[in-house]
Amino acid sequence: MSGSLLYGGDEIGALVFDPGHHSLRVGYAQEDTPKAEIPAIVGVAPAPEEIKLDPEAKPDDSNVSSNAPTHKYYIDTAYLHGPRANMELQSYMKDGMIEDWDLFEKIMDYSYSKVIQSESMYHPVLFSESPWNQRQKREKLTEIMFEKYKVPAFFLVKNAALAAFANGRATALVIDSGATHTTAVPVLDGYVLANAVVKSPLGGDLLVLRARELLESMGIDLTPTPMIASKEVVREKEPPKFTKKKLSFQPSNSWLNYMIKKTIQDFQQTVLQVSENPYDERAATSIPAVHYEFPSGYHQDFGPERFKLAEGLFDHAMLGAGYIAATSAGMCDVDIRPALYSAVVVTGGNSLVQGFSDRLSRDLSSRTPGSLRMKMIAANGTVERRFGAWVGGSILASIGTFQQMWISMQEYQECGKSQVDRKCP
Ligand SMILES: Nc1ncnc2c1ncn2[C@@H]1O[C@H](COP(=O)(O)OP(=O)(O)OP(=O)(O)O)[C@@H](O)[C@H]1O
Ligand SMILES: [Mg+2]
Repeated sequence: MSGSLLYGGDEIGALVFDPGHHSLRVGYAQEDTPKAEIPAIVGVAPAPEEIKLDPEAKPDDSNVSSNAPTHKYYIDTAYLHGPRANMELQSYMKDGMIEDWDLFEKIMDYSYSKVIQSESMYHPVLFSESPWNQRQKREKLTEIMFEKYKVPAFFLVKNAALAAFANGRATALVIDSGATHTTAVPVLDGYVLANAVVKSPLGGDLLVLRARELLESMGIDLTPTPMIASKEVVREKEPPKFTKKKLSFQPSNSWLNYMIKKTIQDFQQTVLQVSENPYDERAATSIPAVHYEFPSGYHQDFGPERFKLAEGLFDHAMLGAGYIAATSAGMCDVDIRPALYSAVVVTGGNSLVQGFSDRLSRDLSSRTPGSLRMKMIAANGTVERRFGAWVGGSILASIGTFQQMWISMQEYQECGKSQVDRKCP
């Protein structure tokens, strides 16, 4: 049997969920990539008055029906990318962990009904979690999955361990750079060494913040695509000529900020580059510029700014990726350091900023003890890199020997939610 159970002769596969601040990755075990990447944000709007007065009425316009008829919930790109009256965007994640369980359940409902399109009771579920997830939150998730979703089996694995598996290693020093943080996590024989995890707040969101400050200081209009009705072609560096969409309402600040963030993330992915050596104004001006056009139609070349912004991920003395990697390895037993240095796995969406792994390699090499050999493992494919933990979960949940690891519904019923503390390290 490989990651699937038999129900009335039908073979039904396990599901893998990998939650992050940027997105939730959802899909079937054994597949190469998640079925969907859902933004980790939910649009919440008060339901119209009629619905409030009539508790039987179902909200119609939203793609997820709500238990509380006082609100409507909007999930996934197609729904979030349009302005809506009174819609506020909210995150259910905090510090790498699930914080708002009600909103989180909305995303799970959506995942089953729109992405998986199958009943939750048929699929074992493997979830990833951050290395510092708390006991009470792990138990809560276990409870929700068994009680609300009636899953036949459940398991929880640290995302860094999964990213190591995805890169073919059971022992590795995993450097995961996501939206809200970058972490260095030692993994030994598939288990995270929790007391040597080192975390820095320098991630993709910090780049967005810095890029926004810079672009605004340059006077660049960041009006996002869904707010633009039409635009004209203008010459490089000329003021943009566009008309804004006419709306009968003012979109919320949370929605506008989210859409501006999307705009800047695109800029960041196209334009930014980490230089191989610490930022040097003169060297940066000699490297080719990249041309970029904003949704408003404004466009120009970006030269040294490309490097200056990206440098933010490395220039901080105690928080740069190379520094936290070396610190984490240094906190581990001296016997296992050679194994960690010889398998430095780079994962997470933000590690795709051009030049990231080269610079990390350079910074970490210079800190590697002389007797050790440093080897960096970074998947070449964008998908493998962004979805490292999900891919590792997909592999793990399909291995034959893993099948005895699941917490079954029966075990849950007999032993309760604390079973997760016993079975999932
Ligand atoms: N090709 C790319 N180039 C540069 N940055 C990218 C690229 N693709 C994704 N990103 C950035 O990666 C970040 C998302 O990474 P990831 O999906 O690993 O985060 P997450 O796990 O959801 O968040 P967190 O780890 O903070 O909980 C975003 O900041 C996004 O802008
Ligand atoms: Mg992450």
